[in-house]
Amino acid sequence: MDEQRVAEFYNAVGCSYDRSLYFLACDPLYQAEIARFTRGRRFRRVLDLGCGTGKQTLLLAPFADEVWAIDLSAESLRQAEARCARAGFRNVRFLQQSIVALPAEDGSVDAIFSYGDVISHVNVAYLQVFAESARVLTPGGLMAFEVDGKWELDMLLHNPEERARARATRGMGHLRIWRDIPCKTFTGPEIRRILLKAGLRPVRIRGVNIFHCLLPETVLFGLPQEVGAAWRMASAVLQRLDAAIGILPGFCRLASTRLVAAVKR
Ligand SMILES: C[S@@+](CC[C@H](N)C(=O)[O-])C[C@H]1O[C@@H](n2cnc3c(N)ncnc32)[C@H](O)[C@@H]1O
Repeated sequence: MDEQRVAEFYNAVGCSYDRSLYFLACDPLYQAEIARFTRGRRFRRVLDLGCGTGKQTLLLAPFADEVWAIDLSAESLRQAEARCARAGFRNVRFLQQSIVALPAEDGSVDAIFSYGDVISHVNVAYLQVFAESARVLTPGGLMAFEVDGKWELDMLLHNPEERARARATRGMGHLRIWRDIPCKTFTGPEIRRILLKAGLRPVRIRGVNIFHCLLPETVLFGLPQEVGAAWRMASAVLQRLDAAIGILPGFCRLASTRLVAAVKR
């Protein structure tokens, strides 16, 4: 049921959400992480879990013999396919299905990327996503992904109702409701525990969206041309601040989302 709701949501917003100030702010960090993990490497097969409109698929395609771009949303996949075709990439397979069961054989994938908070959308079966990723990865293979952080600054300052729910969920993340979609949040120790149990060794965790998420919701999810120059300027300043402090443990804990990288043992 959740999957159907998620697919319907992204089918409906597919044409514009990825150009909102929020997602535009995330892009440079995703690009930097992808550059870090692809530099000087050649992969045989890479999976892009929850590829959406294909922003990261496009960055991964030059480094792999083949990329499998997987998403629930037909409209997002249509746009991802058009984006890759425009760029001339013919090594991408587009698969409309859930990431809860991956269509690859054991040990047949060199790297998995999943940016844009995809795994948090899988708020019930998220353990299955990690187990499946570990199953399909080759030993030494990389899993780089983003998940919601539990103690985000915006919630702590502005959302007493959610704060109470977070406090009631001890030792693990709670559900954050975003546009009627429940998203699973994670604590740092929880995500480390889950990864280790799945056979994945965490190698890097950084926070993103710390102060930037304090901007009003209408600004965050507005298009840059709609929000005005002053908000665009505020966004640029906060993005720079977040980029600089997101690697510090105290600030990472307050981040709305975290970028995590792990290696298959
Ligand atoms: C915020 S978008 C991010 C898209 C893209 N990675 C980006 O950063 O631009 C989240 C995507 O995850 C997809 N998604 C959510 N749950 C999924 C699931 N269980 N299986 C496959 N895709 C899923 C949604 O359809 C949506 O396209």
